[in-house]
This record gives sequence, structure tokens and C-alpha cells, in this order.
Amino acid sequence: MTSTQQLAQSKPASLPVAGTVTKAVIPAAGMGTRFLPATKATPKEMLPVVDKPAIQYVVEEATRAGLRDVLMVTGRNKAALEDHFDRHWELEKALEAKGDELRLARVRKSSDLGNIHYVRQGEPLGLGHAVLCAADHVGNNPFAVLLGDDLIDARDHLLEAMIAVRTAKGGSVIALMEVPLESVHLYGCASVDTDSRDDGDGSVVRVTGLVEKPDPADAPSNLAVIGRYVLDPSIFETLAKTPPGRGNEIQLTDALQVHAASSAPGGGVHGVIFRGRRYDTGDRLDYLKAVVRLAVDHRELGSDFSSWLTGFVDERNSAALDSATP
Ligand code: G1P
Repeated sequence: MTSTQQLAQSKPASLPVAGTVTKAVIPAAGMGTRFLPATKATPKEMLPVVDKPAIQYVVEEATRAGLRDVLMVTGRNKAALEDHFDRHWELEKALEAKGDELRLARVRKSSDLGNIHYVRQGEPLGLGHAVLCAADHVGNNPFAVLLGDDLIDARDHLLEAMIAVRTAKGGSVIALMEVPLESVHLYGCASVDTDSRDDGDGSVVRVTGLVEKPDPADAPSNLAVIGRYVLDPSIFETLAKTPPGRGNEIQLTDALQVHAASSAPGGGVHGVIFRGRRYDTGDRLDYLKAVVRLAVDHRELGSDFSSWLTGFVDERNSAALDSATP
């Protein structure tokens, strides 16, 4: 091979066009207090959902949408994340020696997902601050933010739809989901211009205002912000000026509220209303539901698990009937 050929091969296949979304930021610095003691020595992002850590689903989602440059914003006690996405030579050699091709492929997949970078948040000052920690890495292009607690089913293509909206309309794009009004206090909540449902099926709307975790009585709607964002890089300047808000933390929602009201370049916020399958792995009960829902559809385990589950539920129902019989 000539040196010119070597040079040509070492270049990336194609350089990203300015203005396209190529980077994903995954905030992963949270302490996981809702899962203690499971998360005392293990990052919550590493809790398994069937047979993969929760965070791997999120990285796979980013790479499926074409975002192979992933920055994780981590903190103390998160070394397991770096180990998980790194090669594990000894393990690979051992599996190779045993001829265990299947597990070898699974282990390799977790380290071949993209270019994963890490930055530390240092202080737990909120989601807005975590995103601000990505400023140097992201630079001046739009980028995606994926929150690790929210898993979006691989069969639903939310992030791709959001990137398409950013390309068509500019500004920033958030994901919204209708929730029962009594649950809005758990989320950022959006008011939207209902006349702006301009995409045919009414799932793209212009966001007119945002409030972080409102009381149901003050909520502008039942549209909750779920953990996917495509942000204009001008958000960094706004975040740097955003004072602590709800919970005394710098809130991404507050910075986006400024952009929703702005007609400056890079301003404006659209929402994509998601009606697909979302699993919340940040809460113990929802985590259990996520595991069951993904297990019943699992390619290898689904059929056995489903029949066991049906039998288990039948057994529980007849036991309940027996004990209710006078
Ligand atoms: C964060 C955001 C909130 C959003 C939620 C989605 O809150 O601050 O606006 O609705 O994620 O999961 P957290 O759940 O981290 O408290």
C-alpha cells in the first residue's frame, strides 16, 4: 500500500456539513438516589434492562440516528460507564478461545458504538449546567441531548423526526408527550400554539412557553417534556446567563423558555409530540415495567418469558379468587 493510499484510508469517510446534527450529549452525573442502595457503588445508568445496561440503549439510539460522536457528562463514581464502552481485551480473548462467538459479538458491540467522550460536571448544579459542560466539545453546531432515564423504543424514531424538524425549521426542538395532568409536576411542561400543527398528523407544534415541574393547577397544558432535545448552539450563551431555578438548579427548561420567546437567530422552539413507546427507568416501579415490556418482546427470551408471565399472572389471579371466596 502506498503512503497516499494509507493517508486516504485514515481520513473520515466524509466530514460533517456545517449545521448538521452529528453530536449527542448524554448527561450521566446524577447520583441515582431513587435506586439506593442498588446505586451506592454502581452508576444508575449501568442498571440492566433485560441484558444491557440502560445507558447502552440510549447510546444505540443516538448512533441509529447517525450521531456517532457522543459526549457523556459524568461525575464521581462513574468509571463503570467508561469501562463498559471501552474494549475489554482479556474478556474478548477468553471468549475467542472458547469459541463463544455470540457473546464475543455482544461484548464487541458495546465498544463499537461510536466515538464516546467524557467530561465531568464537577458540581451537581442541574441539567442546564450539565449541558453547559458540553459547550467546548459541541462548538457551534446543533446537537442532541438524550437523558438516560428515558428509553425510547428502538422501533419508534423520535430522534430522527426531531432532527428533521430542526433541519426544516431551525432553532431548538423538544420532545413532548401527553401525560395525566396530575403527573405534570414531574416534568417540564409546555404551552404550544395549537394553530401551528402543520405537519399533517399534528405532531409538530410551535412551543410558546415552558415551565419546569409546575403544580397541576398552574400547568399550561398536559404536554410533558421528555428527555430528548435537539438544541441550537446559542443555548450555551443562554445557559451561561440562566440563574438557578426550580430546586435551586440551573434548568434547561428555563433556558429553552427564553428561546421559545425569542426571534433572534437560533431562537424559536418546536415540539414533536411523541405517541410511541417510552420507558422511564429512573423510577423503581417504571423501571420494573420497562424490564417486563422489553423482555416480552426480546428476540431470544420473549417467547419463554411471555408464557411464564401469563402463567404467573393466572396463578396470582386464581390465588386471589380463592382467598376472596367466603
Ligand atoms: C428532567 C427535566 C424535565 C424533563 C425530565 C424528563 O427532569 O428537567 O424538564 O421533563 O427530565 O425526564 P428530571 O427527571 O431530571 O428531574
